[in-house]
Amino acid sequence: MNCLTKKISFISGATSGLGKELSIHLARKGYHVLIHGRNQNKLNSLYDEIKSLNGTSTIINLDLKDYGGIDKLGYEIFKKYKKLDLLVMNAAILGTLTPLCHQEPKEFEEVLNTNLIANFRLLRSLELSLKESKHGELCVISSKLTKEPKPFWGAYSISKAALEQMIYNWYLENKKTNVKVYIIHPKPINTKLRKAAMPGEDKKKNQTPTNAALKLFTILKQKNDQNEIITIDL
Ligand SMILES: NC(=O)c1ccc[n+]([C@@H]2O[C@H](COP(=O)([O-])OP(=O)(O)OC[C@H]3O[C@@H](n4cnc5c(N)ncnc54)[C@H](OP(=O)(O)O)[C@@H]3O)[C@@H](O)[C@H]2O)c1
Repeated sequence: MNCLTKKISFISGATSGLGKELSIHLARKGYHVLIHGRNQNKLNSLYDEIKSLNGTSTIINLDLKDYGGIDKLGYEIFKKYKKLDLLVMNAAILGTLTPLCHQEPKEFEEVLNTNLIANFRLLRSLELSLKESKHGELCVISSKLTKEPKPFWGAYSISKAALEQMIYNWYLENKKTNVKVYIIHPKPINTKLRKAAMPGEDKKKNQTPTNAALKLFTILKQKNDQNEIITIDL
């Protein structure tokens, strides 16, 4: 099967953690995976790993701060594949855990730019391809902090709350399309981001990125006749 006959998925932040493991699993399951990241070496090594599993992928090296690049991406994906079956908004940064007003304004903006604005730019760039899929899925990796706010999570938790609001708006405007929308609230996963947030914790209590990716894939594969956003703990 060549990549044009496969299901096409785009995973932002595929070079590490949950995004990496999900990309590998999707490739195993026959998806053509557009692996996105900003580090060419990590992307090359993921490409090779997927190839060694007889999977197929295409590297997309794009810093999410490059909004012009995100705009061009939608055009390129539509031109080549004419559709996008699965869009996973996964990439995010944490910033510093600190009292809100101690957070450096520059860092606050960077977190919002990566976790919210870049996803807005991705959505407007990729929505045409997503709607062209017969069974399009939009999967947004958010955080339980949007339902259970905690102190010191500053810009990160604010960016996730705003991201969910944005996705709700888009969903309400696009209810008549085929696109199913999922908002995911992961429990702690042992990744780079989690280690930065909780460096001293007992890692054994957390799930591995591989387990989280398998669970997420199962959720996405379940038959879904609902025309509602599915918000689910992972
Ligand atoms: N881990 C948890 O316990 C947990 C809990 C709740 C929610 N989440 C959410 O799960 C998702 C995945 O996070 P993770 O834990 O797997 O973290 P991670 O290992 O740090 O992965 C984050 C990914 O995003 C990429 N990225 C960040 N900024 C980027 C930019 N400007 N341009 C391109 N790529 C960029 C990173 O690239 P580099 O490799 O180049 O840095 C990396 O591939 C995030 O949305 C996070 O908020 C995680």
